Amino acid sequence: MVRLHTELCDRLGIEHPIVQAGMAVHGAEEIPPSPVALVAAVSNAGGLGVLGDNFHDLDEMDAAIRAVKALVGARPFGVDFLVPASREEVGTSDNREAYRQAVAAHPRHAAFVAALIEAQGLTPAEPADRAPISTAVLRRKIELVLDHRVPVFAAAAGEPPEWFTAAGHAQGMQFIGMCGAVRHAQRQVQAGVDIITAQGTEAGGHTGNVATFVLVPQVVAAVAPRPVLAAGGIATGRQMAAALALGAQGVWVGTAFLASEETGIPAAHQAQILASPSEAFTLSRYASGKQQRGLISPIKDAWAASGLEPLAFPIQRLLQEPLLRAARAAGRWDLVPNLAGQVAGMITERRPAAQILRDMVDEAAATIEELGTMVVRQR
Ligand SMILES: Cc1cc2nc3c(=O)[nH]c(=O)nc-3n(C[C@H](O)[C@H](O)[C@H](O)COP(=O)(O)O)c2cc1C
Repeated sequence: MVRLHTELCDRLGIEHPIVQAGMAVHGAEEIPPSPVALVAAVSNAGGLGVLGDNFHDLDEMDAAIRAVKALVGARPFGVDFLVPASREEVGTSDNREAYRQAVAAHPRHAAFVAALIEAQGLTPAEPADRAPISTAVLRRKIELVLDHRVPVFAAAAGEPPEWFTAAGHAQGMQFIGMCGAVRHAQRQVQAGVDIITAQGTEAGGHTGNVATFVLVPQVVAAVAPRPVLAAGGIATGRQMAAALALGAQGVWVGTAFLASEETGIPAAHQAQILASPSEAFTLSRYASGKQQRGLISPIKDAWAASGLEPLAFPIQRLLQEPLLRAARAAGRWDLVPNLAGQVAGMITERRPAAQILRDMVDEAAATIEELGTMVVRQR
């Protein structure tokens, strides 16, 4: 059995330089896209599994970390959530009250959502009866990550986790920070982040505008000697070999693991991912207020045609809760955002996560060996 080894493997204590991206989608009643079973499967297969904890409250995150620990034993794993440097606070710890305030402040957007609900024949649902993730809750989540001595913390959506890099380092925690542009990578380095994920625009979820092929070598040069993980559009061993050729020491893989047997996404969304071409995964700010890549949908089209400017994160998301909850309750998954990257267009098969990882390693190794045979030195 072949192994692919880079220095990053020694730093993280893993066998293969493949990190499963922490992934979360709003609507925490659902199982997240990177649930305990997926994280454990990837870590136990020799990669690094990362929990997507953005929308977990304290108790849910505590339970998820305990469950991962029980399944992986001494193997490393990570936790990922957004630690914002700046964020428009919703101003209350009551989600329904926050929703009422958002409606009052943005009546045209709220009326548009109400019209969408009616046009789709849905019964409007109340916003979720749970607290939004406030700054106070975030601080307590950080304390919990430290208490659990989680080996790796990944900061979502490009914000450096300045609040606690010193405390984490003191107990041996490694930090991964996401960037979609070179200037963001430099901010991560200043914040004390150890490993930089350079995420190209091809990626699923929140993403920037620079492509992986262009971004990765620039970030590698900008943050050297810090290691870089390449992200966005990597689902095969050939793509992994290309990422290593660009100077990355490993890959951060999201969409490919949405097609795994262990993912928490709805079966209908997985079927769409397996069946849709790359060009069906487009950019929009309609779902969260920040730019995200996901599958085309009637709701996305309607927002684009409305001429309404998306509101700031997280207000844009909050206003759509009645629609999202109604669509979920009715099993109308075509109306719920299906976040995934362009690489979905080349994924046609559902496989166990360990097999996805194994196939990537084998194909990357074969590709690297094949490339070596192309070098002809003239004497
Ligand atoms: C459904 C979904 C949810 C995501 N949620 C998060 C998240 O909560 N935190 C985060 O750091 N990145 C998130 N991402 C981005 C991934 O971490 C990763 O950068 C991206 O999936 C890589 O590109 P790929 O999808 O082409 O593999 C998400 C991506 C998807 C597809």
